[in-house]
Amino acid sequence: MKPNRLAAKLPSLLIVALTTAFPVLSQAQPANPAVIQIKADQVTGSVSPTLYGLMTEEINYSYEGGLYAELIRNRSFKENATNTPHWQLVQDDGAAGSMSLDTTDPLNDAQGVSLKLDVAKATSKTRAGVANDGFWGIPVRPRTHYHASFYARSGNGFSGPLTVAIVNTRSASVVASAQVRRLSDKWQKYEVTLTTGKVPPSRDNRLLITAGHPGTVWLSLVSLFPPTYHDRPNGNRADIMQLLADMKPAFLRFPGGNYLEGNTIATRFNWKNTIGPISERPGHPNDAWHYWSSDGMGLLEFLGWCEDLHMQPVLAVYAGYSLKGEHVTPGPDLEPYVKDALDEIEYVAGDASTVWGARRAKDGHPAPFPLQYVEIGNEDWFDRSGSYNDRFAQIYDAIKARYPALQLIATTKVNSRKPDLLDDHFYRSSMQMQSDTHHYDQADRSGPKIFVGEWATREGAPTPNMNAALGDAAWMTGMERNSDLVVMSCYAPLFVNVNPGGMQWRTDLIGYDTLSSYGSPAYYAQKMFNLNHGDKVLAASSENLPTREWQPPPPRRRTGDPPGPATTPKQQVPTLFFDATRDSGTGAIYLKLVNSAGTIQPVRVEINGLKNIEAKGEAVVMSANAPEDTNSITEPAKIVPVSTKVDGLCADFTRDLPAYSITILKIIGK
Ligand code: AHR
Repeated sequence: MKPNRLAAKLPSLLIVALTTAFPVLSQAQPANPAVIQIKADQVTGSVSPTLYGLMTEEINYSYEGGLYAELIRNRSFKENATNTPHWQLVQDDGAAGSMSLDTTDPLNDAQGVSLKLDVAKATSKTRAGVANDGFWGIPVRPRTHYHASFYARSGNGFSGPLTVAIVNTRSASVVASAQVRRLSDKWQKYEVTLTTGKVPPSRDNRLLITAGHPGTVWLSLVSLFPPTYHDRPNGNRADIMQLLADMKPAFLRFPGGNYLEGNTIATRFNWKNTIGPISERPGHPNDAWHYWSSDGMGLLEFLGWCEDLHMQPVLAVYAGYSLKGEHVTPGPDLEPYVKDALDEIEYVAGDASTVWGARRAKDGHPAPFPLQYVEIGNEDWFDRSGSYNDRFAQIYDAIKARYPALQLIATTKVNSRKPDLLDDHFYRSSMQMQSDTHHYDQADRSGPKIFVGEWATREGAPTPNMNAALGDAAWMTGMERNSDLVVMSCYAPLFVNVNPGGMQWRTDLIGYDTLSSYGSPAYYAQKMFNLNHGDKVLAASSENLPTREWQPPPPRRRTGDPPGPATTPKQQVPTLFFDATRDSGTGAIYLKLVNSAGTIQPVRVEINGLKNIEAKGEAVVMSANAPEDTNSITEPAKIVPVSTKVDGLCADFTRDLPAYSITILKIIGK
C-alpha cells in the first residue's frame, strides 16, 4: 500500500480510519529521518493553567446577530435617526396604516425614540402592523418556546388587542402567534410566549405585531428570545456556547479590542450604560466595526458568560485612548476614567456592601465574581502622542492602591511602572507563524509575564483553513514550550456571522449563520491543544528537521518610519514542529507534532528518562488533503480531529505523520 498516493484522493476522515486499521507506527527508517528526543526526566518549566482562553468583542456581529440570543434587530429603533432599518409596515389588502419614528413622550431617556404605528383602516381579517426581519431572518425550530416582549402605549381610540406572530416569509404561514388583549395609554411592558408546532427548522421568518382596529400604537424595545444556554434570561445562543464549552477555555478577555476603545471617546465601551434592565440601556454606535450595539451583551452578561463556562474574566478597562487618535491627557483629565475603571472593578469583584457591588446585586448577581486580571486599554502602541506611559501609571497606581492583588496588564511596553503582564498581538500568515515558533525561546524572563492577547494565522475567510490551523498549531507549540513566560493566550477574533455583510474582519475562529454554527480547523487545533497537555514542559530537541525555503515579506512600515530594505533574506523554515508536556498526576506525556508539508513525514521519537513506557497509547490526529481545505456552514465537519488507540509505543519508535496534519500522542510511562 502507498498511503501517500491514497492520501491525495481520500477525505481526511477516511485517511484517519485507514491509519487506524493500518497503524502508522512503524520501524521503517528512511535515510536521515527526523528525530525528536524527549527527556522525560527534565522539566524546563510549568504549563500555565490559564494558557488557553478566549478573546471577544463586538465585531463580525459577534453578539448582535451572534452569541447574544436576541432575535430582533434594531429593537430600540436607534440604528438610524430617520429610517427604520429592519422594520417594515405590513398591511393586508383593504387595510391601511403608516409607521414613523417618534421622539415625543418616549419610554425613558435610554429609549429616546419609539415606533409609532398609525392604523387608519383595519379589521380582524384585514390587519395592519409592523414586522421585523431579524438578523438575516428569524430562526425557527419545531416545538420551541419563544419569549416576546415589548413596551407599548396606545392612543386615538385604540385599546387592543395586538397580535404577535412569527410568520414564514416564503409561505406567509403563521408559525406561532399570541395575543395581547388590552393596551394601556400609558407605557407598559407586555410579554407573550410564542410556541412553534411541528414545523421544519427555517430562517425565513419575521416577527409581526398587528392590529385589527384603527388607532395608534407606540412601540419601544421589542424583543424576542429563543431558549438560551442554561436558560439565562437575556442570555446566549446555545449552539455557539456549546462550541465554546467544548474548548474548556480558562478565561475570557473582554470587551475588546477596538470595541473597548471606540473610534472616539464618546463611542467607547461605556460600561455603566450596559448594566441594569435592557430597557435602561441606551445602546451605542459600534463605530469601530460599523454597526449598532444594543449593549444587550453588557458587563454583567460578559460575567455570566464567564460563569457559565467556568472561565475567569480578564477585564479590559478603558484607558483614555480611542482609535481615531483622541486621547485623554494623563492627570486631572484622566481622573473620571480612572474612577470609572475602579467602579467597574468594584461592580465585578466588590462584595454587596460596596456601592457598585450592591448595584451588581440589584442587577441579579449578589456574589462577587473572581477577578485576577485587569488589562489597561488596548493596543496603545497606536497612540502616537506617547501618553500611554503616564496613563498606564495613573490607572495602575489607582488600581493597585485599592486592589494590590490584581494582576495588571499593559498593552505595550511602558517604563513608568512594571506591569505584571504585557499583552502581545500577532496577526500573520501561516509561514510567518511557522518561521517564528521560537519567538519566546530566548526571551528575557526577568520582565513581565506575557499575555498573547490576540493572535491568529490569517488565511481563509470567513474562517481559517487548514493551512492557518497548521500555522496556529506550530505557533502554539512555541507558546506551550514557553508557558513559564507566556501564561495566557487567546485567538482573535472569535466569531463571525457568515451571512452576507456579517464579516468585518477575515479569518475568525467560529462561524455561524441564523440557524447553525461550526468550528474552523483552527478551532479544532485550539481544542486539541487545550484538551491535551500536561502541567510540565519537558526538555525536547530534534535532529534532521525537514525544511522548506521561504521568502519573508518586507517588514511593514508605518507612516514616518525611516526607509528600510525592500526585501528580506530567504529563510529555511521547518515543516515539522513539536513540543512535549507531562501531567505530573497521571504521568502521561503529550507529544504534539505538526507536519505542515504536503507529504507524509516519518518521525523517530526517542524518549529518555523513563524506566517503562506502555506500548498502548492514544493519538488525536487532524489532517487535510490540501492546505486550502476548510470547514464551512455547509460542510461544518470536513476537517475534524479523530482519536484512535495506538500500539507499539516505546523508548524509540517511528511514526508517519500524515500530510498537512496535527498529531497529539498521549504516551504513558514511568
Ligand atoms: O481582532 C480584531 C482587532 O485587531 C482588535 O479589535 C484589535 O485589538 C486588533 O487590532
